[in-house]
Amino acid sequence: MICETFPTEDALAATLGRLVVDAVRRQPSIVLGLPTGRTPIALYGELIGLTREESIDWSGVRTFNLDEFVGLSRADHGSYRAFMDTHLFDHVNVDPRHIGFPDGRAPDLAAECDRYEREIARARGIDLLVLGIGANGHIGFNEPADALAARTHVARLDEETRAGNTLWFDGDLRRVPHEALTMGMATILAARAIVLMATGEAKADAVRAMLDGGVTTRLPASFLQLHPQVRVMLDEPLAAAIRPL
Ligand code: GLP
Repeated sequence: MICETFPTEDALAATLGRLVVDAVRRQPSIVLGLPTGRTPIALYGELIGLTREESIDWSGVRTFNLDEFVGLSRADHGSYRAFMDTHLFDHVNVDPRHIGFPDGRAPDLAAECDRYEREIARARGIDLLVLGIGANGHIGFNEPADALAARTHVARLDEETRAGNTLWFDGDLRRVPHEALTMGMATILAARAIVLMATGEAKADAVRAMLDGGVTTRLPASFLQLHPQVRVMLDEPLAAAIRPL
């Protein structure tokens, strides 16, 4: 894994925004895998800004998001789909038919997971997948466990992960769903290139274990060590917290 450190979150977002925009320009029909969370908000801001300044055309771009809460749709403001509309999709000319999302309201969730995998396969897979990481080492909603699921599946969320998501539910933990649909580890590892962004001291232990520990289902992000094309982007406060004294 190539690991880079940036002085601030904004500097990280500027570099990653440039990387994504250049990839879109090079490959107008690129398939992007996209994350939600606090961390990528600055990235999406950069993408919107660069798109305006440089007239970037998103009409051929295909996107697939990593995950969505069970029971929520874009009409719920806590849904990841609503997040993506607010922070990116409403501001660029991506074709709504090209936006891939697992449907947390689907009546048959297992069938919905299969449909999502088929949709990704039909798009010939993900060219560039951007990831965040949870403080417990989760990616997407692949939580630490004895075994990890390979493909898109229904995941039960750890309490720590639910607590980390209260921001999208006006700080009310009771409203955070207990389950989500998420791409599985094989879905993630099948992406042709991966960039993981992480900021802030609270993620230092997870990032250290991801970079230097063994590959373990107890830290799902460690599986990224198996992928040949992963870039890890950190901000200085996080990097400083993992540096040996
Ligand atoms: C959620 C998402 C993850 C994300 C993580 C960290 O649980 N499912 O995809 O990486 O939160 O988010 P944040 O950037 O808010 O710390």
